[in-house]
Formats: sequence, structure tokens, C-alpha cells
Amino acid sequence: PAPHEFVVVANRLPADIRVDEEGNVSSTPAPGGLVTALAPVMRAQDGAWVGWSGSADQLLDPFDADGMHLVPVPLSEQEVARYYEGFSNATLWPLYHDVIVPPEFHRIWWNSYVEVNRRFAEAAAGTAEKGATVWVQDYQLQLVPEMLRRLRPDVRIGFFDHIPFPSVELFGQLPWRRQVIEGLLGADLIGFQRTGDAANFLRAVRRFTSHSTRGQQITIGQHWNRPERHVRVGTFPISIDSQKVDQLARTEKITKRAAQLRTELGDPDVLMLGVDRLDYTKGIRHRIKAFGELVAEKKVTVPRTALVQVASPSREQVEQYKTLRQEVEVMVGNINGDHGSWGRSAIYYMHHSYPFEEMVALYRAADVMLVTALRDGMNLVAKEYVAARPDLGGALVLSEFAGAADELSHALLINPHDIEGMKEAILKAATMGPAEQRRRMRTLRKRVLENDVQSWAKKFLSVLQNMPQRTSHV
Ligand code: G6P
Repeated sequence: PAPHEFVVVANRLPADIRVDEEGNVSSTPAPGGLVTALAPVMRAQDGAWVGWSGSADQLLDPFDADGMHLVPVPLSEQEVARYYEGFSNATLWPLYHDVIVPPEFHRIWWNSYVEVNRRFAEAAAGTAEKGATVWVQDYQLQLVPEMLRRLRPDVRIGFFDHIPFPSVELFGQLPWRRQVIEGLLGADLIGFQRTGDAANFLRAVRRFTSHSTRGQQITIGQHWNRPERHVRVGTFPISIDSQKVDQLARTEKITKRAAQLRTELGDPDVLMLGVDRLDYTKGIRHRIKAFGELVAEKKVTVPRTALVQVASPSREQVEQYKTLRQEVEVMVGNINGDHGSWGRSAIYYMHHSYPFEEMVALYRAADVMLVTALRDGMNLVAKEYVAARPDLGGALVLSEFAGAADELSHALLINPHDIEGMKEAILKAATMGPAEQRRRMRTLRKRVLENDVQSWAKKFLSVLQNMPQRTSHV
């Protein structure tokens, strides 16, 4: 591929690409917050995006799509099982989300993680022009900064961690904790969502390496022919394309669709909404439990109140995700069996994803938005809901364990483990008068519209690009 002066490296490309037996290519947007945030930034930058296409054993040449230059990195079926489903999503993901489910440690997964990280580093090295800026994303690629630095000492390297960074006691369980830290320290700048994540990382550096830290800076001493260098750590809460969501939510098409959705759902007085990847970090079971109890105790009545739960499929080959799906579906079935009636459910549960416009219409239609994560790096659904309410209506119930709670303190903040407390907050949201809705929503919207994803990227990249240029002798 032609060399680029700006390169993003992420496990996934912004779209899942499928090639059928006849060679027809189709694509669907990739799931999750990372792609939601980065795609608009990349469209504006004319950079290259290095990532995996979402299917095993697929060899694709670099290509342009949707205003972006995409550079596919292939994964074999075994690597999908060991590096992606295994080490990334059954070791690191649960470990970094405070062991909500027990992480598994397998040396064979780790070896695959090292190998695949090297492939991503090589792809990035082959895509970056001299002196380029390379921005590595998320927990799947923590070894890439150091590997890339060895291959290309001339480029600036940033790393952003989209998920929480755990406490030193939990991180310390990882048999390869030192290698992971050294991998990250190959970057010039390492960004986190919350100040607590950055503090946890600095603590881990002090505990597991001999590098010295001072404030937000780490000094890597001179080693053989490699000169002394500094790594900066910072907090950069990620966001969404707020303007785009706001504008879309104002269109007649969306407002009409929002009204139509309420009619289709039987015109409830109170429409509650949950939108998540079907992931155990999201607190979906806790939320449904709280809702089910409110219904059973007749604090809310069905069908005057309805809950829509969109749970988009995610990591379906990973055991814990299969279990979660079964548990959620049993809970929904129980509640609907007990409290539903012909043509009317208590909970409308959907296990698929919808086009973005339909999601914005749902946000616009919902009186109460439930974001009840047990642990979440940021949670962009909370920000999307706020951006989708130019009418200043609706109430947001938000877990204090989501990164978004730092900025969105005017939501109804809850502890999702405290079912009684969550029930009270849900009731309060369901009965909140329009004046209070407007007052809260106005403040929430100010935060989300001011701190959008463009300003997030700008802040990170300007810190990275203004760092003193290091001497690049190898
Ligand atoms: C989270 C992670 C992303 C990931 C996304 C979807 O947002 O931070 O790195 O891409 O979930 O998960 P998946 O495993 O489908 O890529």
C-alpha cells in the first residue's frame, strides 16, 4: 500500500467483511464503541486503518471504503480461537473488567497473542511513512507499541486503552504482566478513559518494572544502543460524533419513526430502553431483575410500562457469552410468561443489531434509558442517548461503574449491584416530570456536545505530536 502519515491500528476494521463462495463481497458495520468513535475521526483524516476483517482465513488486499484506507490483517481459525476469543476475550477482557467472570490463563493463548501482535506491528510498519504518527487501539494489541518501535524507531506511537485498566492486585494475576507493560511502554503517549485507569497503570509500572515514574511521566533508562526516553500517560475520555447524532435526531424521518415505534409497542405510558452488546460487563441481568421485581411488586404495570432490550450478538463462540445469553433469555421468558398478555409483552427482547437510524429513533422514543454496566471503560450508548434528545425529554439511569459517569453526573447514578437502589432510581426516572427532565438533559447535552469524538482525537493527537521529537538513532 502507499505509505500514510497517519495510521490507526485496531483489532477490527470498521466493517466486518464477508466474501462468499462466488467471490461477492458484503460488509456490515463492526460492533462496539471503538468503531463508533474512530470511524468519523478517520473519515476526516485521510489515514490508513490496519485491522482484521472479522472472518478467519481471509486474505484481502488493502482497499478504500467509506472514505477510509483499509489494510486487512489476516487471522487463521486457530488464531481467532486463541488470540481473539481466548487471550483477548477470555483472559484480558474479564481480568480488566474486575473479574466479573473468572479469567482463564493459558500459555498457548498467550503465544498466539504475541504472534498476532507481531503481525499487526509489521503491517503498521509497512503502512506508515517516514516520521508518521501511528495510533494503536485497545487491549487486543498491547504489545504492538514496543514491537513497532523496534521496527520503526522513526514513527510517533500513541496507544489508547478503551477499556478499564484494573487495580494492581488484579492485573498482578496475569502471568505475563511485565511483558504487557513493556509492550505498552513502547508508545510515546498512553491514553486512558478515566483518571483511575491511568493511576492503576502507573501503579503497575512501579510494582512490576524498575522504570522510574514522576507524575504522569515514565522514564525508560538507556539500554545498550537505545537512548533514554520518556513515556507520557494521560486521561482522554472518549466520545461520539455528537453533532451527527443530534442532527439526525432532529429530522422528520427520525421523529416520525420514533412516534411509530411507540405505536407499534402498544403506546405505553412509559417506554424503557436498554441497548448493549450481549456482554456480562453490561449488567443486563441485574437490570432485568430490577425491572421484573418492579413489575411483580406492581410498582409499575404492564403493558402501561414496557422495556425494550436490544442485545446485539457478540463473541458468540466464547463460553461465558453463551451462558449469559441463556440466562438472559430465561429471565425474559419468565417475566413475559408471568406478566405478558396477548400481543403485549413486558419486555421486548431483540438479539440482533439495527441500523444506526433505527437506534436513534429508539433513543428518541424512550422515556427512560437504562445503562447499568457492572464495569465499562466509557459506554457510548449513554452519550448517544443524550445526543439523540434535542427535545430535552427522557431520563438517563447510569451506572457509576461506567466511565461516562465521570462526565454525566446529572444522570440518575446507580450501583447496579444494589437492586433496591436501582429500582428506586428506575421508578424516579419513570415518574420524573418534564421540568426536571429538561433541567438534567440540558446539562448532560452540554457535556456531550462540547466533548465530542473529534475533540477527543484532537486532544490526544496534539499531546502526542507536541512531544519532543526523540533522536532516532537505532
Ligand atoms: C469493545 C472493545 C472493542 C471491541 C468492541 C466489540 O468496545 O473495546 O475493542 O471491538 O467491544 O467487540 P468485538 O470483540 O466484537 O470486536
